[in-house]
This record gives sequence, C-alpha cells and structure tokens, in this order.
Amino acid sequence: MRVLSGIQPSGKLHIGNYFGAMRQHLQLQTEHNCFYFIADYHALTSNPTPADVAPYTLDVTMDYIALGLDTKKTVFWRQSDVPEVTELTWLLSCVTPMGLLQRCTSYKDKVAQGMSPNHGLFAYPVLQAADILIYNSDIVPVGADQKQHIEVTRDIAIRFNNNYGQIFTVPEEYIIQSVAVVPGTDGQKMSKSYRNTIEIFEPEESIRKKIMSIVTDSTPLEEPKDPEKCNVFALLKLVASPDELAEWESRYRSGGMGYSEAKKRLAELMIDHFKPFRKKRTELENNINYVKKVLANGAKHAKAVAVETLARARKAVGLGT
Ligand code: ADP
Ligand code: TRP
Repeated sequence: MRVLSGIQPSGKLHIGNYFGAMRQHLQLQTEHNCFYFIADYHALTSNPTPADVAPYTLDVTMDYIALGLDTKKTVFWRQSDVPEVTELTWLLSCVTPMGLLQRCTSYKDKVAQGMSPNHGLFAYPVLQAADILIYNSDIVPVGADQKQHIEVTRDIAIRFNNNYGQIFTVPEEYIIQSVAVVPGTDGQKMSKSYRNTIEIFEPEESIRKKIMSIVTDSTPLEEPKDPEKCNVFALLKLVASPDELAEWESRYRSGGMGYSEAKKRLAELMIDHFKPFRKKRTELENNINYVKKVLANGAKHAKAVAVETLARARKAVGLGT
C-alpha cells in the first residue's frame, strides 16, 4: 500500500502537529511504503516572506528525521522539487467543476480568518489532488480538517478516469482520529496562526514557561475540578501513563489540588517525552548538508514516479504525439 501525506512549511512544528499528525505518519512507516513531502507550493497561498520558505522547509525536515523518519525506507521530499505536479494540476483543473471547489470549507474558513482570497488558495485542493494522484497513493493519512480535500481528490480522479480511461488510483482517506484537537496555551486549537503553540524542539526552559502560562479556570485550590474541561489535563493525556493519568483525574475530582502542581508535572513529562530526540535534532542542525541530501534523494525517487504518471495523463488527454 502506498501511503502519502504532505505538511506545509509554515513555521516551526508544534506538539499539536506531532500528536495530531506526525506521530501517525511515523508509525505507518513500519508497515507501508510511505511518501511524505513538504508542501511548499501550498504554503505560497498564504504569501510567506520569501526568505522564510527554505529555512522552514529544512526545519520540518530536521524535525521529521529527529523524530524517527526512516530515511532509508520512506521517501521524503520537497514538493517544488518535482514541478511535474503543477502540470498535472492543470490537467486536473480542466475536469474540476467550479462548484466542487466552491463548496470547500477550508477556503471559506481561511478567507474568513483574513487570508487574501487569491486564486491559488481557491485552487489549492486541485494541487492537493495532483499530489495524491501523481504518486498513485492508496491511503492518505490526514487530520479531520483535510477530509473534504480527499473527497475532492476522489471525485476528480473518478471524473478523469471516466473521461480518459483508468489512469489514476482512487485513494482512500485515513482520518487520523487517535487524538482530539490539541489545545494551545490559550485553550484554542494549538496552531501556528494563533501564536499559542509549544514547539517540539524549543528550549526546555521556554517549554516550562509556556506550560506554566496555560489558561485555566479560577476554581479555588481546595474545590473539586473537572479534568475534561482543563487544558492542562488535555495535554497530560498525551504524555502521562494510564496509571498516572487516572491518579491525576481522581485528584482533580476530589479537590485540594492546584493547577500549578499539574502544570509542573506536565512540563516535566513533556520535556522527557521529546528528550531522546533533541540530541539528533542538534546533530542535524550541524549537518545541514546531510538534511539537504535526504531531500534531494527523496526528490529523485518521487520524480521517477511522477514523470511516469504525468506521461500517462498527458497521453490520455491527447497532448504530445
Ligand atoms: P497549523 O494549524 O499550526 O498551521 P497545520 O494546519 O499545518 O497546523 O497542520 C499540520 C497537521 O497537523 C495537520 O494534519 C493537522 O491536522 C495537524 N494539527 C495541527 N494542529 C493540530 C492540533 N492542535 N491538534 C491536532 N492536530 C493538529
Ligand atoms: N493541505 C494539507 C494541510 O494543510 C497539506 C497537503 C498538501 C497534503 N498536499 C497534500 C496532505 C496531499 C495530504 C495529501 O495539512
């Protein structure tokens, strides 16, 4: 089975990205043929500062390798190193009904949040479909927010195949459901765009400070507290053992426990969770050439697949000789 997913290089990766997506990507490596890429063409839809695009791409690559990407087995590359995908986007655009894109909620949400409604942002799902179809993907692990884009991909693949013959594998989505939305320090969804993140590899002291600043309610220390309404408890669920979690739950419910005690323990557990990967992350920062080599090698493998699929699609629609 070919598993494929992409992640945008729009800032340093945070623990929401890790528990919500990366961890599952890394787990899938053991059983499947995985293709993961850094979606830098997609990131352009939010008009990033040009000087940020390449460093963020390297940051994401280093984070993945440090956290356990199997660079021998998994193909990992930068989307724009295989520009064939943009040509396929055009072929797919010509069988994509406007209404299909007009129904996409992610476009509407992003515009509502103040992003400029540029054509790239509107056509974003067609580029995503090209990413998925050009690599003959069977399974696409994504968060729930991306489910609609996989449905759009399936719809486009079926239309293309109906018009031109069996060119594309119609993929299945694999919704990553194991983790509820990870809250940020302010209690909203943790997200780079809300400035409420705890980065996976930020300095330990800074992780401690951020965890101590997590928003909690004002229930007095001696009173019982509802763990399910607490942002600190939501994060404890990600890193505490089941026994320890059960103990915290009963301490919340019986009262006499202050949030700062739970936060201190959370900081300790969170720092310990990522400690084994920090050394590797630092080694990679000192060996950028190796990181670039991983991307170049990934691009070579990915390109070989992309060129072949694109040639079939071009021929099917009648381009070339
Ligand atoms: P951000 O919101 O920080 O820009 P992205 O949209 O780039 O993050 O998300 C990359 C991946 O991480 C997606 O698969 C998304 O579902 C997952 N993800 C992001 N934030 C969270 C979160 N707070 N909780 C769970 N998963 C998340
Ligand atoms: N749109 C995805 C996101 O923002 C990233 C992405 C781009 C992607 N192309 C993809 C995910 C192809 C899965 C498959 O998270």
